[in-house]
Order: sequence, then C-alpha cells, then structure tokens
Amino acid sequence: MMSFKLNNGIEIPAIGFGTYKAAPNESVEIISKAIEAGYRYFDTASYYGTENFIAEAIKQSGLKREEFFIASKLWKSDMGYKETKAAFNKTLENLQTEYIDVFMIHWPRPDLTRTDWKELDIETWKALEEFYEQKKVRALGLSNFLPYHADNIIKNSKILPAVAQLEFHPGHTQTFALNYYREKKILLQAWSPMARGRVADDELIIELAEKYHVTAAQICLRFCIQEGVMPLPKASSLERMQANLAALDFEISEEDISRIENMPPLGWSGEHPDRVRKIIK
Ligand SMILES: NC(=O)c1ccc[n+]([C@@H]2O[C@H](COP(=O)([O-])OP(=O)(O)OC[C@H]3O[C@@H](n4cnc5c(N)ncnc54)[C@H](OP(=O)(O)O)[C@@H]3O)[C@@H](O)[C@H]2O)c1
Repeated sequence: MMSFKLNNGIEIPAIGFGTYKAAPNESVEIISKAIEAGYRYFDTASYYGTENFIAEAIKQSGLKREEFFIASKLWKSDMGYKETKAAFNKTLENLQTEYIDVFMIHWPRPDLTRTDWKELDIETWKALEEFYEQKKVRALGLSNFLPYHADNIIKNSKILPAVAQLEFHPGHTQTFALNYYREKKILLQAWSPMARGRVADDELIIELAEKYHVTAAQICLRFCIQEGVMPLPKASSLERMQANLAALDFEISEEDISRIENMPPLGWSGEHPDRVRKIIK
C-alpha cells in the first residue's frame, strides 16, 4: 500500500481504518473484515471502547503484530503525568501488545474551565515522551490541537509530534491548521474524511464522482491523499471498506483539487476544542 513517511522516519499506510462507533455488538467482526479488506492501520482511542476488539481481531488474523499499525489516544479525564502512565498501561493491556505505533493526546483541554490546560498538556506530553524513549510508542501525536495548542507543546518539549489529527474533509479543511502542520512536517490525519456522509449531496462532489467514475466517498478520500493528509474512514461493509481503499487507485486533476479546496463550507461535526459542542442536525 502507498505510505506516508513520518518526521521520525517511520512509514505508515496512506489510509487507516477508523473504529469510532465501529458497529457496536460486532466490533471484532468489523475489524476482521477491515483486515480482510487490506487495512493494516487502525485508529482507536480508550474512549471508543474498541481497543480490545482490535487486539482480538489481530490475534484471530494469524498475522504478526509487526504487520499492523495501531494508534490510540489518551482521554480527557486521564490527562496529567501520573494519570497518563496509568491510562497508557491500560491501553497496552486492552490492545494486548508491548508497544503502540502512535499514541496521541485526544483533546488539548479536558474541559473549558481548565485555565491551566497549557501546563497540563506539557505534563501529559512528558509522560508520552517517556513512552517514546522506552520504545513503547513509535510515534507521538496530537488530536484536535489547533496551531496554538500544538505550539505550546512544541516550544516546551523535547520530542516533536509526528502526527496530528483534525476534522478534515471537502468543505471543511481547516486550512490555517493544515498549513501549520505542513510547515512543521507533522502528518495531518483526517477524521470524518467523508463528513459522515454529508458530502454525498454536494453538487461539485457529485459532478467529480461522475467525471472520475468513482463514488463521492472516494473523491473525499482521494482529496485527502493528494493534500498529503491521511484519511481514517470508517465503514461497516466489506464492499465499502474495499471501495474506500480503492481511493488509492485514481488521481484527481490539479484543477479539480483546487475546485474542491475552494468550494463553499459544507458543515462540520460541531466539535471544537475551545467551544461547547454544537449540536448540528
Ligand atoms: N480524533 C477525534 O476526535 C476523532 C473524532 C471523530 C472521528 N475520529 C476518527 O475518524 C474516524 C472516521 O470518522 P467518522 O466515522 O466520524 O466519519 P467518516 O469516516 O467520514 O464517515 C463514516 C460514515 O460514512 C459511511 N461510509 C463509509 N464508507 C462509505 C462509502 N464508501 N460510501 C458511502 N458511505 C460510506 C459510514 O457508513 P457505514 O459505517 O454504515 O458503512 C459512516 O456512516 C473515526 O472512526 C475515528 O477513528 C476521530
């Protein structure tokens, strides 16, 4: 599979599988299906409750642990040096593994009342740096950190993040943040790369899907890849999982990429690290 190279030299697959709300009640089967479809990078978080399903599906696959890339995240209530260590050990246990490929802080603030979030982030990062030095984690990351949150870590720590995860899809590209991470050589990963289906009704996306003989979902995923952003699509059927991986097999012209970059806003999840969550219908 095509890959992205991280700033510490590690290569990871160009598309990962998202496991948030991955088919409750049949999660091991879903992950097994994703492995069958060809996914080797799995995005999870202690918050998702899917870590143990990944462990089980990997075990059942009969493939070696080294063939997989597992990314997990530290939840808001586990931030702080000591708390992070305990939470990380729990994550290792859930995943039944000696090491994790990517470990991230899930959100920069546990809640909006925490005015000391900068100190808290630095303390938390210090624990992550120790896991990295002990080779328990191969790359460190930040999730939902805007440039000024990330700058606080970068200016006050030894180890540079290798990965950052943000909501990113056509019509919501957070371009200032994208450019910031590009400049720092930190790989941006797209969560909700298909805007949870919202893109399927957009006239430009429909036009391009017809033009390239692909689906709206494939346009979104291919757009991410051509922007140098790694998408983390979630899907429930083997057909969709395979179709999403096929986004690696075609190319969108530069002009059409520019049209997507400049399309009108398409809506977003309503989740922002510095705001109360908006409920968006
Ligand atoms: N860091 C964070 O805070 C954060 C936040 C949100 C998400 N994430 C990560 O990003 C991953 C993906 O995000 P997401 O699940 O919110 O959004 P998404 O991947 O953009 O959308 C998932 C939706 O798209 C549908 N879908 C998948 N493939 C399709 C296809 N080929 N054609 C049409 N529809 C298709 C899925 O339906 P079916 O499932 O029915 O197939 C599902 O309803 C998550 O699983 C998680 O790992 C991270």
